[in-house]
Amino acid sequence: MSANAAEFGFIRRFLYEKSAIQVGADKDYLIESRLTPVLRKHGLTDFGGLVRRLRANGSDALSVDVLDAMTTNETYFFREPAVFDQLVREVLPNLMSTRAASRRLHIWSAACSTGQEPYSLVMHMRERLPQLRDWQVQVLASDVSPSCLAQARAGVYRQLEVNRGLPAPYLLKYFVRRGLDYVLKDEIRNAVEFRALNLAGNWPIDIRPDLVLMRNVLIYFDLATKTAILGKVRKVLAGDGYLVLGAAETTLNIDPAFERVTQGVYRLRNAATNSRKGSSR
Ligand SMILES: C[S@@+](CC[C@H](N)C(=O)[O-])C[C@H]1O[C@@H](n2cnc3c(N)ncnc32)[C@H](O)[C@@H]1O
Repeated sequence: MSANAAEFGFIRRFLYEKSAIQVGADKDYLIESRLTPVLRKHGLTDFGGLVRRLRANGSDALSVDVLDAMTTNETYFFREPAVFDQLVREVLPNLMSTRAASRRLHIWSAACSTGQEPYSLVMHMRERLPQLRDWQVQVLASDVSPSCLAQARAGVYRQLEVNRGLPAPYLLKYFVRRGLDYVLKDEIRNAVEFRALNLAGNWPIDIRPDLVLMRNVLIYFDLATKTAILGKVRKVLAGDGYLVLGAAETTLNIDPAFERVTQGVYRLRNAATNSRKGSSR
């Protein structure tokens, strides 16, 4: 099925308005290939019908499926492994020392895709920071894609997925085989709470995270959206908390309130003062 220029234009604007995702005019083929199965699923025979439906109701099941299909969900276990090591070697121990009184940690994996990111961190914390067992560690993970969240909640991964980045000892220890799939054990699965959250919309999160992982998602947004999102991170993040971005992302020239601590890891410029003031809650 193919769309005309006006239909492509409408779909691009729709995606931008709903999720801030930008699909360039050179990516029309992507719109066609990803949305053709959505059209079929909803009994539509052409893109004209899709546009009419989206115009009439921009927040029904069809629009959710359109957004879902247009997100790029590439992820894998321990993506950029140096970052995970940095988290258990420095970032989390630092947070633990300032929160020793409350023994509470709040972590938010924003744009978690199919769950490999938060689950990697939980497994790594189990192995490398066993003292956290006595702590209350809340791990919240969110994404705009309902199909990603469904897989993340189920904790079921294909052979190909566990072959990408997951250390063999973790596979043996934390997964059980079911047919061709690998199912995450409840002790890890239950440690993460998944929620739908559109970074371009309101953020109904009720925690003040000490650590925010927002990796490989800002790259899809324009400067205005990146600025707005980093401004919102600044508001929710604990004063001495950490923000982790993907390797191709930075706060530099976008939000001067953040400074780089090390590759991929950022903090508010006055984090040390915030830390001395005490952030244990
Ligand atoms: C490339 S994946 C990155 C996943 C993981 N953070 C990683 O680094 O491996 C980007 C994720 O961002 C999500 N995403 C895109 N736009 C979003 C938005 N407006 N709000 C929340 N999530 C969004 C997509 O659904 C996708 O799962």
